[in-house]
Amino acid sequence: MESILTFIGRFHPLIVHLPIGFILLAQLLEFNRSKFKESEKILKFILYWVLLSGVFSILSGYLQYQQEGYLWESVQGHFYLGILTLILSMGFYIFLGKKTILKRLPRSFFSISLLISLIFTGHLGGNITHGEDHLTEPLAEVSSTLFGIENETKTLQLNEKNYSEQSIYTGIVVPILSNKCVSCHNPKKTKGGLKLHNYEALVQGGKNGSIINFDKPEQSELFLRIHLPVEEKKHMPPKSKKQLTKAEIDFISYWIELGAPQNQTLEQLGTSRALIDPFLSKEEERFYPKIALDAPDSKILRDLIAKDLLIAPVSRESNLLKISTLNVPKFENKQMELLNGIQEHLVSIDLSYSAVNDSIFDLLAEFPNLVQIKLNHTQVTGKGILALQKNKNLKQLYLVETEINGIYLKHLSNFPSLEQVFIFQSKRNLSREIELTPKLKTIIEFGEYDLPKLPSDEVIY
Ligand code: HEC
Repeated sequence: MESILTFIGRFHPLIVHLPIGFILLAQLLEFNRSKFKESEKILKFILYWVLLSGVFSILSGYLQYQQEGYLWESVQGHFYLGILTLILSMGFYIFLGKKTILKRLPRSFFSISLLISLIFTGHLGGNITHGEDHLTEPLAEVSSTLFGIENETKTLQLNEKNYSEQSIYTGIVVPILSNKCVSCHNPKKTKGGLKLHNYEALVQGGKNGSIINFDKPEQSELFLRIHLPVEEKKHMPPKSKKQLTKAEIDFISYWIELGAPQNQTLEQLGTSRALIDPFLSKEEERFYPKIALDAPDSKILRDLIAKDLLIAPVSRESNLLKISTLNVPKFENKQMELLNGIQEHLVSIDLSYSAVNDSIFDLLAEFPNLVQIKLNHTQVTGKGILALQKNKNLKQLYLVETEINGIYLKHLSNFPSLEQVFIFQSKRNLSREIELTPKLKTIIEFGEYDLPKLPSDEVIY
């Protein structure tokens, strides 16, 4: 029964358009009465349908309010105006009858008041579903961009150095909630009567009272909702929305278990490093350029994976990609075509042990954001390496155990961002073949010592 009521309630946004349409039709006819012989009869007929569909709209609307946890304060205006619209329609209907006291009112009273009432009811209804600033929102965004006002963003700003002094609530909980919950739980849109935009509102709870149970934290509404299986109706956030990650669920749970503290810092609480780690911005992210790109085309990625190429984003939230041909030893220059469409996304490419040759440099120059290129154990001699000067972000170049010829390496001094070049060759002593400029001395590594291991070397698949 419950679910049938909810089902009917959900039809409200659809059903309301029937009386709206009928009322507009009635108005059209009303203002063109002289054109139709039987206009009074047709008008009554239409108004009859306004009444019928209007009653259903109000009933379904009331069900929706009851079943979906809207706040009465936010729907009451819409509700009363809906009823007023129905009453005015009824008045108009009666007015058109034979003898009635309503005849004392001017005819235009009905048509005009009905139109006004309809517009306001509809507007308030729209505010409930889309939020109060639905109409003005696009304009607000334009004006704030025009005047250079930045929207206040509550993003994670934790790093290795500052995390211990951060408060558990503002440092981690707030960014998670603003990202995944506040869009539906705020002063304008208060689903379930619950606001999560600040601490006071959160502690106050929703239509069923407090969402945090300080005596039995595991029974907190907030705790239960995020742990329910995604298919459950009461699971939060709703299935269709961006879900909490496992680390986020673990962290919020930990916070609730502590009694949802507001001001204590992570250090004071002795929060374990494992819980915090997923929220720290990593060294690696600074290694790669900060560029905002749309997500790469998933079809291209699937094709690459199907061809045994190892491809992965550089971090959890990033659209930048790293790729390795390690599993495809026969990979040749020609196959670089496979990467068309993700040239901008690629920041690291590992072609070690592949069959590429010197023409690869020209091809690699077309990848504007490459930070790291590995050509270890390939047959490159370095002819054409100057093309890589175009790669404005290139920081690391690996040429270990190649046919590299020292004369080409002098070009490297002019590369804008190059920080390290690894050219160890076990069978010869390259350092004797090259004339080192001071710049080259700082960037070229001849040694056999272990290459520094970067987080980016660990490819996660
Ligand atoms: C797409 C909108 C939407 C998003 C996003 C959303 N919720 Fe909700 N939430 C609802 C609706 C609708 C209800 C009321 C229906 C219900 O109780 O399931 C609700 C109810 C709740 C309630 C119960 C309130 C009470 O007192 O009954 C809690 C707790 C809750 N949400 C927590 C969250 C948390 C935590 C998040 C983020 C992880 C979240 N919600 C994200 C729509 C949303």
